[in-house]
Amino acid sequence: MSGKWEVLPFWMLYFVLLSVYFQGCLSAFNLARPPWKKQSSFGSSFVFPLVGNVYPKGYYEVTLNVGQPPKPYFLDIDTGSDLTWLQCDAPCRKCTPAPHSPYKPNIKNIVKCKDPICASLNHPCHNPNDQCDYEVEYADRGSSMGVLVKDTFPVKFTNGSAVAPGLVFGCGYDQEVPASAHAPYTDGILGLGNGKSSIASQMSSSGLIRNVVGHCLSGKGGGYVFLGDDVLPSSGIVWTPIVRASSEKHYSLGPADLHFGGEATGIKGLTVIFDSGSTFTYFNSGAYKTLLSSIKKNINTKQLLDAKDDKSLPVCWKGSKPFKSLNDAKSYFKPLTLSFTKAKNIQLQLTPEAYLIHTDHGNVCLGILNGSEAGLGNVNLIGDISMIDKMVIYDNEKQQIGWVPANCNKLP
Ligand SMILES: *[C@@H]1O[C@H](CO)[C@@H](O)[C@H](O)[C@H]1NC(C)=O
Ligand SMILES: *[C@@H]1O[C@H](CO)[C@@H](O)[C@H](O)[C@H]1NC(C)=O
Repeated sequence: MSGKWEVLPFWMLYFVLLSVYFQGCLSAFNLARPPWKKQSSFGSSFVFPLVGNVYPKGYYEVTLNVGQPPKPYFLDIDTGSDLTWLQCDAPCRKCTPAPHSPYKPNIKNIVKCKDPICASLNHPCHNPNDQCDYEVEYADRGSSMGVLVKDTFPVKFTNGSAVAPGLVFGCGYDQEVPASAHAPYTDGILGLGNGKSSIASQMSSSGLIRNVVGHCLSGKGGGYVFLGDDVLPSSGIVWTPIVRASSEKHYSLGPADLHFGGEATGIKGLTVIFDSGSTFTYFNSGAYKTLLSSIKKNINTKQLLDAKDDKSLPVCWKGSKPFKSLNDAKSYFKPLTLSFTKAKNIQLQLTPEAYLIHTDHGNVCLGILNGSEAGLGNVNLIGDISMIDKMVIYDNEKQQIGWVPANCNKLP
């Protein structure tokens, strides 16, 4: 094997795991939609192309233009958190290497702490005219700290009309990356969660779009993200209601049972969080163990052997000769199915492409990881790998998530 991989520290830290954002606001701020909005019709959405892949890059990024004159920034997309932030020269105490120079706010951009978006971040506000400090922490113990600012985001509706709404976002002057991990090479994060601070919530409060977001991540790399609901196909989407635990506000679905090759694995009643900020899928320790033994039982050792020397991920297999692509190996694996038990026939099909990666060494590795080992406790995350080649839609108005197979390389 090449030396490049041997020097890697712990495998897991090499991948983006943004997800769980602990500082959330609770439903107190989920104000009802004003009645006038129910009558207005929304003719348009915003669609942004994505660059990136599950492996080796580990994330998908979007380009957004911000400010006057507009400057481009690359943002990692994250349905596991609400607040969008840019690395920021305020001045920057701790910025990570990024493709563009940090955003430079003006005094007029600073958001005061009396702003309802500041309140939605649970920031204590002693003097209403103070600046609004924020801090977000991610599941991998990375974080961003800074102040809220407001600036214009020139964007084009799918119907061609241009608008430049003023939106609140974080100006992050102190970013922590977990030790020995490499941060995604981006200028910040686009938070697609359902909190009031998200850009989609802000656009929906001002009547620009309905509060619906979604993504289509291509397995070949690239894809698109959208805000608004007029790009949805008219048929084929299966919808499942979002479940809300009292203490969290993620895009959680469940309960679901896991099947492997059409047969029950014994894994039942899983709650899963849909998190585009996570590269891989994570199951809690018990479910992971059961899944691993189901997969291993099904392996024909004439076709596949353990590839212990491949440290790309914890569990890898090699063939009799190196695999040129995932295509060469996928027939040795069966599909996984998450079957949502509260609704009839609602299933998330995971073909081998949605849970395996192909490595530089010509092996294939399991892209479902032990969440307990990653410090996620009992949380189960559906990451990018398991959402590829589908349009995944997060409808915050109807509180439901839908998906439909799609060619993500073709923009709607
Ligand atoms: C495009 O859609 C927006 C939002 O629905 C609307 O305000 C605008 O008038 C539309 N423009 C055209 C050219 O139809
Ligand atoms: C998953 O991680 C936990 C915590 O590190 C560990 O105790 C357990 O043995 C792991 N399970 C498997 C199957 O590796």
